Amino acid sequence: MHVLRTMKQRIPLQLKWGLRHPREAVAHLLDRLARRLRRERTHPPLAATSDPVASEWHAIVQRAARATDISDHLVTLFSETLALEPKLIVELGVRGGESTFVLERVARLCGGTLVSVDICDCADVSRYERAFFVQADDIAFAGEFGEWCRARGIQPKVDVLFVDTSHELDHSVEEISCWFPFLAPRAKAIFHDTNLSSPYFRKDGSMGFAWNNARGVVGALERYLGTRLDEKTDFVEVIAGWLVKHHAHCNGLTILDRISALTRSAIH
Ligand SMILES: C[S@@+](CC[C@H](N)C(=O)[O-])C[C@H]1O[C@@H](n2cnc3c(N)ncnc32)[C@H](O)[C@@H]1O
Repeated sequence: MHVLRTMKQRIPLQLKWGLRHPREAVAHLLDRLARRLRRERTHPPLAATSDPVASEWHAIVQRAARATDISDHLVTLFSETLALEPKLIVELGVRGGESTFVLERVARLCGGTLVSVDICDCADVSRYERAFFVQADDIAFAGEFGEWCRARGIQPKVDVLFVDTSHELDHSVEEISCWFPFLAPRAKAIFHDTNLSSPYFRKDGSMGFAWNNARGVVGALERYLGTRLDEKTDFVEVIAGWLVKHHAHCNGLTILDRISALTRSAIH
């Protein structure tokens, strides 16, 4: 009886959601179909391990098996971020917390702090004791960030900046100009949705639907780096003191790794 009642309540809700978001509903159905056809990748449970990195990595691999607009990049986000052993990570754009799931694990492993910012209330997403959620416009918050950090005894030097917000050109340009001054000399800035297209494809061939942001995020990076980027293909390039790594699939992930700090320390 209880199951029947629950099902009756859920069907109209799903229908209402589907009618309001027809593109997302179609994408969701296609994803479910694709998953059924390819039998969802599941990973066997990890053999008992005392290695905390191995068990967090395994949790992320499991999470990434659920196809989303960012699922292909979760393990990359983990490895790229962990490699820096960050003390301070700033995440712009939280929503349901796919990226937060990864970044809070890296912060915990490294004893670091995670500051997550979203204009909507996403306060429940993280359980990590050194994670802060700030509900604010990220540009406005950048203006207060130095003071905000000092009030909490945090040095406002960002080791990893993860950007996944509006994906619009002007806003992305502002995010770069307001947040890059806080980057530590050796830092990474990681941008999702640098190849936003509809449909988009994941590495396993499954697809989802996004929207056309007129190259907003990658356009902002082009302005900052002063060069044209081909977001449709994977590449690794050295541009203006940054090692730039780009993964084209699953809406694109671009990693700017500030290597000018490395070359400076090699020379002196
Ligand atoms: C694509 S979602 C983030 C997805 C998330 N990173 C994940 O992996 O699940 C974009 C988020 O950016 C937030 N956002 C949009 N404009 C913003 C702004 N100006 N300042 C802060 N957050 C913003 C939205 O509320 C939304 O939650």
